[in-house]
Amino acid sequence: MKTQIAIIGAGPAGLLLSHLLHLNGIESVILESRTRAEIESTIRAGVLEQGTMDVLCEAGVGARMLKEGTLHHGIELAFGGRRHRIDLTELTGRAITVYAQHEVIKDLVAARLAARGEIRFEVRDVSVHDVESDAPSVRYTCGGETYRLEADFVIGADGFHGISRSSMPASVRSDYQRTYPFGWFGILVESAPSSDELIYAQHERGFALVSTRSATVQRLYFQCDPKDDVDNWSDDRIWAELHARVETSDGWKLKEGKIFQKNIIGMRSFVSAPMQHGRLFLAGDAAHIVPPTGAKGMNLAVADVRLLSLAFEQFYRRGGQELLAAYTQSALARVWRAEHFSWWMTSLLHRFEDATPFQQQLQRAELEYVVSSRAAATTLAENYVGMPF
Ligand code: FAD
Ligand code: DHB
Repeated sequence: MKTQIAIIGAGPAGLLLSHLLHLNGIESVILESRTRAEIESTIRAGVLEQGTMDVLCEAGVGARMLKEGTLHHGIELAFGGRRHRIDLTELTGRAITVYAQHEVIKDLVAARLAARGEIRFEVRDVSVHDVESDAPSVRYTCGGETYRLEADFVIGADGFHGISRSSMPASVRSDYQRTYPFGWFGILVESAPSSDELIYAQHERGFALVSTRSATVQRLYFQCDPKDDVDNWSDDRIWAELHARVETSDGWKLKEGKIFQKNIIGMRSFVSAPMQHGRLFLAGDAAHIVPPTGAKGMNLAVADVRLLSLAFEQFYRRGGQELLAAYTQSALARVWRAEHFSWWMTSLLHRFEDATPFQQQLQRAELEYVVSSRAAATTLAENYVGMPF
């Protein structure tokens, strides 16, 4: 079988790229190891930058997001018993939308299938070949049969644990990383929202985040030991911890409800460079990971594939290779900005077990600065809503 672009992974990066290519008349095939039901139900990100929304709308897959997502013009930082609003729109002229990643996935899968796009689910043993030649290919098995997909280019959009990154020779790759000594405990709750805006709380017991999904489902997170087990956390223990961390002295109370999902995620910062080798290009989590505090991961995946779609449009429609050649450099400029912001937000808001009293005072001084200086608040807001695409 032959196509123009072979894409490994049907996450936001792979699906959106396939759709953007289709809109430019370029063919692709997506190979995905999980089932459609699995990719459409995995709970992950929630915050979309304005640039991400614009790309989804321009690609014709934004209708449900505009209808069901919620536009947020500010966020709150809570510390020292008080909440402080960062007015994103007043400071930057832009806003963010809360709309779950698996809903974006559903919209993209529906759009791909409606346009007769090919997504092969439940593939196994995926391997990448001959990317240093003009005729690369991907081998995989599906339903016990072995297949070879020939393509002009191969895109590794298979997430952090995928095989694409390691298909690049170790001699050409440099990895930069930092693992944090904590994780996030995430829950989904049946209740009305407790707050109109997201609350990022710094507390001596650890970080907590009040987010939302809809008028009836809420998403809450709190800092935990990454090796902890969800079974150690009864609903009562979770609520006690969240109340202690997020409530402020103005009498505001977190609404409780039925907890219907619990999970723990690790936190890391990671960049692999370059993001291309021969005819293999990496996009999204396959090439870089940020800790979730800045809400940047999915947005970076979208920014990467937007660059790739422009580069392929130039290659196939106008015969130029400059944008493809410049991909790593263009993508990494945004990636490193987001890496810094995500690391900074994480450092600002989490409890570090080994922090000295001196470091704790510095953290508080920085929080006070962010909520009292327009320049500092603008820095946070500009990064949070996302640099222009
Ligand atoms: P993925 O979504 O990981 O998709 C990769 C796909 O490839 C998967 O479907 C996988 O099954 C498939 N695959 C893997 N290996 C293979 C293989 N060998 N062969 C074939 N297929 C394979 N980001 C934000 O922007 N905002 C947020 O608010 C936010 N919050 C988050 C909260 C949590 C709890 C978590 C975990 C993440 C959050 N993120 C957030 C990050 C965001 O979810 C990721 O950055 C995003 O999913 C990256 O998309 P991707 O397409 O690059 O990779
Ligand atoms: C959500 C996740 C984040 O990482 C974040 O910073 C804000 C919101 C969420 O899942 O709603």
